[in-house]
Amino acid sequence: MDNKLDPWSSSNITDYSKLFEEFGISPFENVLPEIPSPHMYMRRKIIFGHRDYEQIAEAMRTGAPFSVMDGFMPSGKVHLGHKMVMDQIVWHQEMGASAFVGIADREAFSVRGFSWQKCREIGVDEYILSLIALGFKPDGLIYFQSGCGSVKDLAFELGAKVNFSELSAIYGFSGETSLSHMLSVATQAADILQPQLEEFGGPKPVVVPVGPDQDPHLRLTRGLAGKMNMFRVEEREDTKTGRRYLSVRGKAAQKEALQELKKRIPGKVKLYEEHIDVLEYPDLSGLEKIVREVAVEFGGYAFVPPASTYHRFMSGLQGGKMSSSIPESQIALTDDPKEGAKKVKRAKTGGCVTLEEQKKIGGKPEECSVFELMLFHVLDDDKELLEIKQECISGTRMCGSCKQLAAEKLQEFLKDHQEKRELAREHLDEYRIIYKN
Ligand code: TRP
Ligand code: SF4
Repeated sequence: MDNKLDPWSSSNITDYSKLFEEFGISPFENVLPEIPSPHMYMRRKIIFGHRDYEQIAEAMRTGAPFSVMDGFMPSGKVHLGHKMVMDQIVWHQEMGASAFVGIADREAFSVRGFSWQKCREIGVDEYILSLIALGFKPDGLIYFQSGCGSVKDLAFELGAKVNFSELSAIYGFSGETSLSHMLSVATQAADILQPQLEEFGGPKPVVVPVGPDQDPHLRLTRGLAGKMNMFRVEEREDTKTGRRYLSVRGKAAQKEALQELKKRIPGKVKLYEEHIDVLEYPDLSGLEKIVREVAVEFGGYAFVPPASTYHRFMSGLQGGKMSSSIPESQIALTDDPKEGAKKVKRAKTGGCVTLEEQKKIGGKPEECSVFELMLFHVLDDDKELLEIKQECISGTRMCGSCKQLAAEKLQEFLKDHQEKRELAREHLDEYRIIYKN
């Protein structure tokens, strides 16, 4: 049971299926048919899991408002792992989401001990430039946590609903954990809930694309969303008759709010001191909508629990895991394009020791970092990718040709990306960026 996901350790998550059972993450395949034109990461099963993505898919189909939110700790070089998250932010933006990106300087300050100055430099020079170069549109909001009053206020409010026991159960915090580290966790929850504040259009579905290591934050935030809300909708069962009904509970709600609710819910309802039983209302999401409207009108919160997607991590170019501390294992988006290509040429493949052997028994694309690079990043064409895979398995393709192809494509991508980064630098002031003052 040592499967505690820890966002600050660098443990490798190997067995994704455990996540489904232990943490209630659903397989992504189930929602895939509901998505109008799925992203490459979705088609290729790189995104393998989700929570509540149904509501995002529905918003994309119906044109209802929704948001995408993500955060980056300004800790070092921006690399292919960050590109995966950025690609997903941009894609959701293209699908109609309003976008929010937080630069987690509070986390870098408290966990890494970075100065604000360093956070700002890394935040802009690494993350923000690449985000824009990858297509982030200027109507999205980018902010440094420390410069964003609404996030800081919300973080403090959220902090009233979480205690140390909970934090240590989720993150393994101990007596040595600093107060600021804990505050940075509350701040991250505030990042995720902020798009639903009234000033940003109120309650709506929000998706947070992350790697599985970030799931603890989502579990915490989903719990907090419920605790902050004025009302809670529950399904109940009449113990005598066995009939199921819905109940709206509002411990902290004003009397008037409950009375207003009673007026708006059609069918047979019964008003009590602190709750309303809804005996004939068949449609849960319709009821939730009414409940949210009333909560907001009476000045309360009505957060929709945030949705999330989970993507696989690419393995390191040398085998093992990708790590920023081993530059050879990773491609930084600012690597010199020729150097990047060289890293690919030196990468570990799933090929055999001799060509002869490989022709006889074939290679193993599922254990090949060069294949992964094509799958995750540099080869857009699904058909071509499938052909390469088949040729590899059947022994008609040799690693040299893959390396050549992947290296060329990567070099091209890096060159183009870096040109776009310089362009982004010139146009930074056209973007909505909140800096720390
Ligand atoms: N903890 C994230 C990281 O280590 C950064 C982060 C801050 C974040 N706020 C967020 C991620 C909100 C997702 C959503 O990179
Ligand atoms: Fe990887 Fe290509 Fe070699 Fe197969 S042939 S192991 S896909 S590099």
